[in-house]
Amino acid sequence: MARTRDIPDALITALRDARHVCILTGAGVSAESGVPTFRDAQEGLWANYDAQALATPEAFLADPALVWRWYRWRRDLVSEAMPNPGHYSIAKLAGLLPRVTLITQNVDSLHQRAGSTGVIEFHGNLFDDRCASCDTPTTADDTVDIPVCPDCGGNLRPGVVWFGEGIPEAALRNSSAAAVSCDVFLSVGTSSTVYPAAGLADLARDNAATIVEINPNPTMHAGSFDFVIAGKSGVVFPELIELLDV
Ligand code: OAD
Repeated sequence: MARTRDIPDALITALRDARHVCILTGAGVSAESGVPTFRDAQEGLWANYDAQALATPEAFLADPALVWRWYRWRRDLVSEAMPNPGHYSIAKLAGLLPRVTLITQNVDSLHQRAGSTGVIEFHGNLFDDRCASCDTPTTADDTVDIPVCPDCGGNLRPGVVWFGEGIPEAALRNSSAAAVSCDVFLSVGTSSTVYPAAGLADLARDNAATIVEINPNPTMHAGSFDFVIAGKSGVVFPELIELLDV
């Protein structure tokens, strides 16, 4: 297959030789499905909305109905979106390599809809609801502005991680363990600006992994990666599959 971009032979060799590959994805992987990213200029979500005014516990406390409208809008948008070749190729990669751990910052379930299993959802999931008071997971009634908990009557909230909140304990533990033990770490479609997710690549490198950035716009951390592939995930991953599946 003619290479549409420069994927170094050394990277293909590193992937072929890897016992364990860890993949961290960000909003860029869903961009080709029509789901806006957060920080891309203009079309990014945060370009049109003030993140602090919507995705924080304080915002929810101040105006739960507004926050529910925002998340219901995002759920509708994502429900109409389809996984793209990047999602499908990432899912296929798991069948070509001995062990792949997929960690996503995305909350849109598109990796799962493309067939990936065991996905570590670092920032929760848009479609999970839970009680803001007693933490009981439940499914919100979409016909009311502010759904309430059937157990304690408290307000329900979307099961996503908000600014200032901690990462779900199991997700943090399992992601860190995967970053420490992997031989190759692929950081895909993320601006690498939000920690602790952005620190996983450093953890992998500090444990002798080969670290790779895949992003059409090299990030401010590009210089610390062993390989930087300047391309869209929906183009690069099908090419990686083509090169590995021989
Ligand atoms: P950002 O919007 O910060 O970054 C998206 C990245 O994807 C940018 O670096 C783009 O260059 C890149 N990109 C755009 N199109 C792409 C494509 N087709 N293929 C590959 N890359 C592409 O989104 P994240 O880094 O995911 O947190 O943001 C991290 C976190 O910040 C999110 O999980 C969210 C937000 O606050 C929470 O929800 C807690």
